[in-house]
Amino acid sequence: MRNIVIGQSGGPTAAINASLAGAYHRAKELGFDVVYGMHHGVEGLLREDLIELEPYLDDPEDIEVLKRTPASALGTCRYRLKDYREDDSDYRKVIEVMEKYDIEVFLYIGGNDSMDTVKELSDYAAEHGLPQRFMGVPKTIDNDLPVTDHCPGYGSAAKYIATSLKEVMRDNNAGDVHKPTIIVAEIMGRNAGWLTAAAALVKSGDCSGVDAIFLPEQVFDMDEFRRVVRELGEKGKPAIIAVSEGVRVADGRYVCELAADVAVDAFGHKQMSGTAAYLCGLISSEFGYKTRYIEFSTLQRAASHLASRTDIEEAFDCGVAAVNLAVEGHTGEMIVMVRDTDSPYACHMEGYDIHSVANLEKGLPVEWITADHQMSEAYEHYARPLIQGEVLPIFVDGVPQHLLIGE
Ligand code: F6P
Repeated sequence: MRNIVIGQSGGPTAAINASLAGAYHRAKELGFDVVYGMHHGVEGLLREDLIELEPYLDDPEDIEVLKRTPASALGTCRYRLKDYREDDSDYRKVIEVMEKYDIEVFLYIGGNDSMDTVKELSDYAAEHGLPQRFMGVPKTIDNDLPVTDHCPGYGSAAKYIATSLKEVMRDNNAGDVHKPTIIVAEIMGRNAGWLTAAAALVKSGDCSGVDAIFLPEQVFDMDEFRRVVRELGEKGKPAIIAVSEGVRVADGRYVCELAADVAVDAFGHKQMSGTAAYLCGLISSEFGYKTRYIEFSTLQRAASHLASRTDIEEAFDCGVAAVNLAVEGHTGEMIVMVRDTDSPYACHMEGYDIHSVANLEKGLPVEWITADHQMSEAYEHYARPLIQGEVLPIFVDGVPQHLLIGE
């Protein structure tokens, strides 16, 4: 068997390395000679910056540590390939590097934008009658890839959000009764509210849950927000409101843009932050209530210490499935998870035409959002299984051990 190259791209997750571990493990099992990693995604491959993975992963213990290592162990990128119909230099270079290193399979672990890279490369190869194969493995805390039931990375981020908010609630509820605090927590997810909806999972046997949830699937009505704040303030009790970083007012501007200009990345996405800070400013200036904002930021996608076992195992299996299908001759596909049964929860993996997933975003169904800013039973039913189980870290010097590749 010849060689295979694996890359990671886009925003990292706590499970993206489990997919790398699964793909590596299966590739060796099936007899690939050399398994390469792209150092910082396709940008690294274009620079011929490839890493032989075997020295890092030759011991089964290394695979276990990799599964528990957050972020993209190979390094990530947010690089947009040029349109090959206008300029095919990137594509010629990718094929040249693959030929030089005898690589027959290119496997990319990423979200919507990364699947665009897989789509363009597989289309280019098909149009030119080239033998190289290109496969996508889903990952994103945003959970917004279409077709697949859910995305690796989501369950772990959701477990972290629910756990941390539950802990924050304990702290807030124990606070000064004379000056209750309204906390606004900002959660990632760009234009999809899946991860913010995980705030609903705080509600459990010993916890009443957060007070309100605002998702980007609905226009953010500032007056309705004021109404919610007033009502909470009048109760004179501590409160927690969860908001998505991607909430927008009626004219289409993100709430964070009301406070400051935002930068834009290579795919034209605005880099969001500051929504909770802005809303807390409004609460204290207009109502005089004590407030505190929490921006989970990078913490929510790097929290491997609290990863969901379901998520890590599925991420591993997605890597395995991609290698299996590539070896069978598939190309231009992304692995999708198909939910077989709810109780007991079970999923299986399939390949799906990349054209139906690349660049597309799947929002949370609006009918899952209730009029009182909570999530319906349907969301609970969907998401609760995804946060089940734990993968405990392996500790070194009192902190979790991580596997470093090429650093
Ligand atoms: O795409 C995943 C994601 O984590 C989004 O939820 C978030 O908006 C974005 O990445 C942040 O990107 P960056 O790390 O480039 O600021």
